[in-house]
Amino acid sequence: MRKKLYIETLGCAMNVRDSEHIVAELRERESYELTESLEEADLIIINTCSVREKPVAKLFSEIGVFQKKRKEGARIGVTGCTASHLGEEIIKRAPAVDFVLGARNVSKISSVVNRRHAVEIATDHDETLYDFSEYRSNPYKALINISIGCDKRCTFCIVPVTRGEELSIPSEIIVAEVRRAVASGAKEVTLLGQNVNNYGRRFSSGVSGAKNFTELLREVSKVEGLYRIRFTSPHPLHMDDEFLEEFAKNPKIAPQIHVPLQSGSSRILKRMKRGYSKEWFLDRCEKIRKMVPGVSISTDIIVGFPGESEEDFEETMDVLERVRFDQLFSFKYSPRPHTAAAQYEEQVDSQTASARLSRLQARHREIQEELMKSRAGAVEEVYFEELRSGGKAAGRTADGKLVLVEGSEELLGTLRDVEIERATLTTLLGRIV
Ligand code: SAH
Ligand code: F3S
Repeated sequence: MRKKLYIETLGCAMNVRDSEHIVAELRERESYELTESLEEADLIIINTCSVREKPVAKLFSEIGVFQKKRKEGARIGVTGCTASHLGEEIIKRAPAVDFVLGARNVSKISSVVNRRHAVEIATDHDETLYDFSEYRSNPYKALINISIGCDKRCTFCIVPVTRGEELSIPSEIIVAEVRRAVASGAKEVTLLGQNVNNYGRRFSSGVSGAKNFTELLREVSKVEGLYRIRFTSPHPLHMDDEFLEEFAKNPKIAPQIHVPLQSGSSRILKRMKRGYSKEWFLDRCEKIRKMVPGVSISTDIIVGFPGESEEDFEETMDVLERVRFDQLFSFKYSPRPHTAAAQYEEQVDSQTASARLSRLQARHREIQEELMKSRAGAVEEVYFEELRSGGKAAGRTADGKLVLVEGSEELLGTLRDVEIERATLTTLLGRIV
């Protein structure tokens, strides 16, 4: 009989894909199958995020809860970025944890799963041959890694510490994976990396034929049967004109782009070591809007970075007004171990940061509402990817907006024209035409 695996995934798209790899390996090599029920699991895995402090604190209380609820003899594993940076300490603080596997060590899952108190967290591990078994939680769209790790040293960010230095996956492996995904029903792929447009800077030794990100996009777009390519996340610094032109003119690349701002103040951007200024960021966004009609631009913003003054924050509000982002992921700065900014003096007090975050989010909500409302009445091409409760099918417009219509199974994996009848803050509601 197959053993049962319960896996909880926190954090970013990279973690979602890492979880799929973990499931794939455990199904193939250790004869596990997935369960949604914690109580019946033989193995419980928490795939963690450590980008902010809160989820780390939550991890230990969660382990306690899982320990109580689990069936007798069930094992608990901690994987992902918190596993990388806390390592053995996790087992010291929570001895119920059976193994710890870092974000850079996913391919070692079957070697740790049966070893009591195994800890594998080396961040110099080379995983770029991506020799994983196959599993995708959704057959209609695929997440595909193109690079691992990150070479930047943004002063707030712990990711380079947890995921190690950046290595690109050879383009042949990527294209082969795209082909496999398409052959098994995915018409849409999302290329993944911490800094996708830095693709091609470094491969593991012995790999030749380096390509840059623009060339990789061209290669991937040649795969027959593939309709839409998305990618996340690019870095504003590396958005050169050659890339923007490819983004604009390649019909398979979806008109959706994440341009992580972090701060609108050039002074703060310098302290963050982001490598671009407010002017460069605005110039890129303006260019994208001009070159790609109907493009959607999303962003990440941190408020309360050490030394952020009221004027600095106003600069961020100014960028918000000018770019009018389709989507905003905004965070209160959280000091992280092993990062330069955690040592900076002038930490902004929590109340001030919260007030700024509320103001930013409130203004963004108004903008988002206007943008979404303006979509009513339009006919959009929607790619359907999953069923929702109440007889609804869910899909995405080319620019990534969630669309719900009355519909069933036969819509999945197809592109349909949908007339948008109504819009909420996050969702377009419509009918097939
Ligand atoms: N390159 C990655 C970034 C990973 S971190 C990507 O583009 O997906 C994701 C986001 O978390 C960052 O863009 C940043 O806005 C936020 N973040 C990172 N470190 C943070 C910190 N110490 N405090 C608050 N937010 C942070
Ligand atoms: Fe983090 Fe900056 Fe890399 S945000 S993941 S160090 S590009």
